Amino acid sequence: MKGDGFYDRHSLVQEQFIHSSAPLLEQAARAIPLPAHGPVGLVDLGCSEGKNSQLVMGRLAELVRARRSDQALLVTHNDLPDNNFNRLFRHLYANASPYGPNSWVMASAQSFFEPVVPPATVHIACCYSAVHWLSAVPSVPHPAGVLFSRMEPESRGLLAAQAAQDWERFLQARAQELVSGGWMVLVSGGRLGGDVAGLKMYALLDEILQELDHPPFVMPIYYRSEEEIREPLETTGFRLEHFRIQHLSTPFADQLKVDGDRKAYARATTGFVRAWMEPLLPDARIYQRMEERMAENPEGTEVANVQIVAAFSRL
Ligand SMILES: C[S@@+](CC[C@H](N)C(=O)[O-])C[C@H]1O[C@@H](n2cnc3c(N)ncnc32)[C@H](O)[C@@H]1O
Repeated sequence: MKGDGFYDRHSLVQEQFIHSSAPLLEQAARAIPLPAHGPVGLVDLGCSEGKNSQLVMGRLAELVRARRSDQALLVTHNDLPDNNFNRLFRHLYANASPYGPNSWVMASAQSFFEPVVPPATVHIACCYSAVHWLSAVPSVPHPAGVLFSRMEPESRGLLAAQAAQDWERFLQARAQELVSGGWMVLVSGGRLGGDVAGLKMYALLDEILQELDHPPFVMPIYYRSEEEIREPLETTGFRLEHFRIQHLSTPFADQLKVDGDRKAYARATTGFVRAWMEPLLPDARIYQRMEERMAENPEGTEVANVQIVAAFSRL
């Protein structure tokens, strides 16, 4: 993610996804077994700079404490080693104690395709807008577009195979960390038939990269279908408690309908895209052009969100 607070300032869309899963957080906090001794373990996988992560973990802390007011909590924020963990901790400790008394806050910089905390120490795991990132990009000879869904079948198959392997590893890692009866709440970009998260924006990106004579590039992202999510659940020891695919417009598109300000819309939408894409595609001209085109044609380039919202319990 783009650091120095840029992600935090341009992650309103991701924040909206968190709000949309609020009932699942409540369900998870009600369902988990509280330990006879020791802390309830909470982990946020792919926490980034922390604004949204603190929102989720703070809500879970409140919900657990509503069940047992003096319950000790061990909260782990997880992301990759390059993440801006300094900003995360500055955020967390802006107020005296991020999650109230009797709580301990840790960071883990282990990839979430491996266990990120010791076995059987987590009661609720969350993962927002992160599991669609692949652990590695397979070699794709001649990608027809940056996103798997715009590629020819053979290349698409290579990315699908990588995504299937990653999802299984992700579940195996969570199966080790979660206590029996523990829950995982997950929100991720997804797809329903040909309806794929962000498709028009990716089509615009392909056009811009072609104009700029950019070398072939494969986005390390895969948006899974319901079948792909369900496939390894049984063998990895999970029960699906909730699944839906939702379509949410962005706050910027909603604002555009109110004020018709296309320039402001394009600036905000491009900011949202840059926050996660710029570290991969750093050429500033891409985002200048994206902003211009989005202002000219908001509907034809919209960032449509096709979101998986799911909850799982560990058997
Ligand atoms: C779009 S951000 C989402 C941040 C936050 N969860 C939110 O909802 O705003 C995705 C985050 O996932 C992290 N991420 C991607 N792959 C990861 C991995 N294998 N292990 C841990 N974190 C990962 C990225 O570094 C990034 O910070």
